[in-house]
Amino acid sequence: MTKKVLMVCLGNICRSPTAAGIMTQKVYARGLSDRIIVDSCGTADYHIGAPADPRTIKAAADRGYDLRPHRARQLKLSDFDTFDLILAADAANAKDIAKMRYSRPHPGKAQVRLFLDILWPGEGKAIPDPYYGGTDGFETVIDLCEQGAKAWVAKLQ
Ligand code: 4NP
Repeated sequence: MTKKVLMVCLGNICRSPTAAGIMTQKVYARGLSDRIIVDSCGTADYHIGAPADPRTIKAAADRGYDLRPHRARQLKLSDFDTFDLILAADAANAKDIAKMRYSRPHPGKAQVRLFLDILWPGEGKAIPDPYYGGTDGFETVIDLCEQGAKAWVAKLQ
């Protein structure tokens, strides 16, 4: 059965496109592209239609991931029906996701988790927001997304 996974951060230009791009590549490398489908979005509307942040694109490219095709979109109610698993980058994102989810009578089928819960269960660990920081923050995002995506693919395959 196909599993649909949605990565969610605030702006959908740094963390969630990175997580989705890395996970998509790992899924492809394992021949699972027909079984696991990955997308990303943001809780905010700030960057709708925009490419990933240039610093994100550069950090990803340096590690072999091409995020240039990405365009940001915002989380929408139908995502709770479409996706099986929604993975939030941090607790604030998870709170905003829950707020939208319970704004209607039917919460949908999606299970909502923190992306890093697979590595540090129950610790509430965030992918730190790199937007206002230096280049090392973008490298940390890649490191965490590589580890997390590997673990999620292993769990879902
Ligand atoms: P992201 O990073 O949520 O990982 O895409 C951010 C992108 C944009 C903003 C904040 C965080 N912003 O405030 O515009």
